[in-house]
Amino acid sequence: MRVAIIGSGPAGFYAAEALLKRTDTTVDLDLFDRLPTPYGLVRGGVAPDHPKIKSVTRVFASTAARPTFRFLGNVQLGRDVTVEDLHRHYHQIVYATGNETDRRLGIPGEGIVRSTPATVFVGWYNGHPDYRPARFDLSVPRVAVVGNGNVAVDVARILLRSPAELERTDIAAHALAALRESRVREVYMLGRRGPAQAAFTPSELEELGKLEDADPMVDPADLPAAAAGEGRGNLEILRDFAGRTPRPGAKRLHFRFLVSPTQVLADAQGGVAGLELERNRLEPRGDGSLVAVGTGVREVIEVGMVLPAVGYAADRIPGVPYDEKRRLIANDDGRVVDPVTRARMPNEFVVGWARSGPQGLIGEHKRASAQVVAHMVEEAAGVASRPLPPREAIDALLRERGVQLVTFDDWKRLDEVEVERGARRGAPREKITDVAAMLELLRR
Ligand SMILES: Cc1cc2nc3c(=O)[nH]c(=O)nc-3n(C[C@H](O)[C@H](O)[C@H](O)COP(=O)(O)OP(=O)(O)OC[C@H]3O[C@@H](n4cnc5c(N)ncnc54)[C@H](O)[C@@H]3O)c2cc1C
Ligand SMILES: NC(=O)c1ccc[n+]([C@@H]2O[C@H](COP(=O)([O-])OP(=O)(O)OC[C@H]3O[C@@H](n4cnc5c(N)ncnc54)[C@H](OP(=O)(O)O)[C@@H]3O)[C@@H](O)[C@H]2O)c1
Repeated sequence: MRVAIIGSGPAGFYAAEALLKRTDTTVDLDLFDRLPTPYGLVRGGVAPDHPKIKSVTRVFASTAARPTFRFLGNVQLGRDVTVEDLHRHYHQIVYATGNETDRRLGIPGEGIVRSTPATVFVGWYNGHPDYRPARFDLSVPRVAVVGNGNVAVDVARILLRSPAELERTDIAAHALAALRESRVREVYMLGRRGPAQAAFTPSELEELGKLEDADPMVDPADLPAAAAGEGRGNLEILRDFAGRTPRPGAKRLHFRFLVSPTQVLADAQGGVAGLELERNRLEPRGDGSLVAVGTGVREVIEVGMVLPAVGYAADRIPGVPYDEKRRLIANDDGRVVDPVTRARMPNEFVVGWARSGPQGLIGEHKRASAQVVAHMVEEAAGVASRPLPPREAIDALLRERGVQLVTFDDWKRLDEVEVERGARRGAPREKITDVAAMLELLRR
């Protein structure tokens, strides 16, 4: 059988591993990515000061070493190759394209200078080529990060870390240079619901209390009384923060709960001057959840930058069915369907965040991708006998279209160069952040 997987993040790699482990048949597997570099958000999302999590790439590299695996980097579905091309050259297709677009707050002033989605900030500090042109004016003393998820925590932490804490990480050189000059002293992390509803995880929250040069600030009045037998969860950690005396001169991270931004205020130059907030209360819904409802009481916090970290969404890819409501690839348990009729799109599957939306950790994709592969196996018998063009015909087609293909061996060369450059500043790597530079280096 021949299978194409589009997207080389965790979900794509775990699906590849599950397919290559099949004992009933040999799978020739081509894993495409629009970037010359593999690993999706493990490279472009996971924070630079969390190197341990990135060691999962060793598992993915061992998948890449399997004899029938090929990486075809620098190939974008919808630009360089179409869904029809894939059907012609493969028996089955798996979309593993993740969630690469930000969700917006939808409030006035959202697009003004220094009001930028956290996705851009994350991509910028991680050296993702899409965000290389981004510029962050870190001359402002106060920043608001909107959201109470782990991405908001990452963003707040990177803003508050000292240059010494960052320089031995694989943070992009341009971001390190800008953060060295940063004048940011206070970060506000804004949750629209209460501390008990926050989405961040205890280990990530706890880390915010251990920064070299920044202290967490929590108003004890925002916290419910401790319940008997309560473990070391978010509330317990926040109570610990609330009881601390901040160090004089340290930067500050203010936790604010039950507030929603209603308007980004502009200064005379059109940049952010402040953020208007509305206080919320919680209201139960029929399904037992608690939603934030505005009280009409407003306040303004004086911040010079706003970074909403309120979630991600899947991009639309030409020829791939898209669920407009859920903002992901339309599917029924990983089988791609027409979003309107729900009719099955034969031989098309989807895994990872493109299938289920932007929730969940890297390790969770292993089981989830294997489940989709089980559906693929069930449906494989009927399609595997269809004759296909020779395996390399897709390479020839792409070259004809002017694509410079990047193989896994090519990636290993880029990897070596990055590791060597990083060693000069005692970092695990220094990323090459420009696709043209990567391709030029490989041509040489
Ligand atoms: C900022 C951030 C930090 C995170 N930190 C952690 C963490 O510390 N620990 C943890 O466990 N989880 C973390 N996560 C969650 C984790 O990254 C995700 O669960 C996981 O990466 C999703 O995997 P995926 O394969 O679905 O998507 P992705 O990892 O996004 O991979 C998608 C891939 O598809 C490629 N692609 C997209 N469109 C196309 C196209 N048209 N053609 C070809 N290729 C395409 C992309 O280039 C990318 O390589 C974090 C997430 C974010 C956003
Ligand atoms: N270190 C790590 O392990 C790590 C790091 C980063 C990301 N991740 C994972 O990646 C996934 C995505 O993380 P994420 O932080 O993007 O998403 P998330 O966990 O879903 O958090 C999103 C946050 O945004 C809030 N929000 C959404 N819409 C809003 C609005 N209109 N106004 C105000 N607030 C709004 C949500 O509040 P409500 O709860 O009220 O909706 C929530 O607090 C998560 O599974 C996360 O755990 C893990």
